[in-house]
Amino acid sequence: MDDGRTDGTLTADRVVPLDAAFFADPHALYARLRVEEPVARAVTPVGLPVWLVTRYDDVREALTDPRLAKDADGFSRVLESKPLPSGSRVAFTQELNRHLLSTDPPDHTRLRKLVSRAFTVRAVSALRPQVEAIAGRLADRMAAGPAEVDLLDAFAFPLPMGVICELLGVPEGERTSFRRWSNTLLASDGTVDERTAAGTAMAGYLTALVAQKRARPADDVLSAIVAAAEDADRLSFDETVSMAFLLLVAGHETTVNLIGNGVLALLRRPDRLAELRADPALVPAAVEEFLRLDGPVNLATYRHTTAPVEVGGTTIPAGEVVLVSLASANRDPDHYAAPDELDLHREASHLAFGHGIHHCLGAPLARLEGEVAFRTLLARFSDLVLAVDPGELTWRQSILMRGLTRLPVRLR
Ligand code: HEM
Repeated sequence: MDDGRTDGTLTADRVVPLDAAFFADPHALYARLRVEEPVARAVTPVGLPVWLVTRYDDVREALTDPRLAKDADGFSRVLESKPLPSGSRVAFTQELNRHLLSTDPPDHTRLRKLVSRAFTVRAVSALRPQVEAIAGRLADRMAAGPAEVDLLDAFAFPLPMGVICELLGVPEGERTSFRRWSNTLLASDGTVDERTAAGTAMAGYLTALVAQKRARPADDVLSAIVAAAEDADRLSFDETVSMAFLLLVAGHETTVNLIGNGVLALLRRPDRLAELRADPALVPAAVEEFLRLDGPVNLATYRHTTAPVEVGGTTIPAGEVVLVSLASANRDPDHYAAPDELDLHREASHLAFGHGIHHCLGAPLARLEGEVAFRTLLARFSDLVLAVDPGELTWRQSILMRGLTRLPVRLR
């Protein structure tokens, strides 16, 4: 395997390793691939050969092409055909793998219809007081605690986790275990045993939770999903548990990084931070810009080809895994002026929530949480600085998520 980043040139038959250097700075590699090899062959940390799509136009097109599918069974068959090193296969348990992001139409259409009502802009805007209350409580706790904190632990994680757990009706006690399982499942550097154990624990927990909502329905979204599932058999048991899994994981793993990556972007640009403090009406635009510049989802969008597909002039054969890079599309200079700059007045939209039928269901909720998070932090802490040297910050080793492992800050 030839690493084109060290020899300075990219060649046609090269395979790009998605390794520690990539996780530390994916944007450097993306910039080169967009120019030199916009549809590249790559290999993930577990040795899975994939195709990597990096240009904005190609990414948008790929995300609306039905031959780039997501169904779990098709994906498993593709994985089985690949020469993965033994011991690196990850078997997602069936109970967790029957959700929106592992189905195509018509199953996807049926599942999405069932939950979409709970997540419309209108439904979500009614949650603002709850989101503000949770953010306020976390800020109170930080103000009363030590001046130096890990902002992810103290604020960026518990805010979306609190919101999605309240919305779905998940009791407080289990949230720490949930975070650990979720982190393990999404990491690209753990062992299969670790991931299998986390998946089994998660499935067991969610199965019990769904049974509890069925026995004692409450006024929450999960109870409503369970009731809808039983009504005319519209959802199987596995689909119900999978839905709970997706909503809980997607509901917090992403927004934590919107807040973390956004705060870091501001701490790197004190002039922009000052501008935002002076004019909080810019916060919604800033949230959009954080999503574009360093969105929570790194490559995120796994697809597999059900037929040969031409993307950006390259034909990807049938039965291949394709990673469609939203992070790269969002910095394509053919689409954005000065794409690496944090610009609070940028008007162009971004692809951080995906595109097409799988466009993020939780986008209105994520936007609300992002807005409340930044308004709260700016209003409550007049002084916010990085507590470590920027070079000491480390990024999670995940193909899916772009986020720091810790964000130590000093605040007053
Ligand atoms: C789908 C990003 C927050 C629930 C997606 C997709 C992206 C994304 C890129 C499409 C993936 C693909 O096409 O393969 C984000 C980002 C968020 C965020 C950047 C935060 C800033 C949330 C929240 C929820 C959520 C808070 C909570 C409900 C979902 C669901 C899907 C999804 C259910 C699947 C939609 C479908 O397949 O029809 N998200 N998400 N997301 N997201 Fe989000």
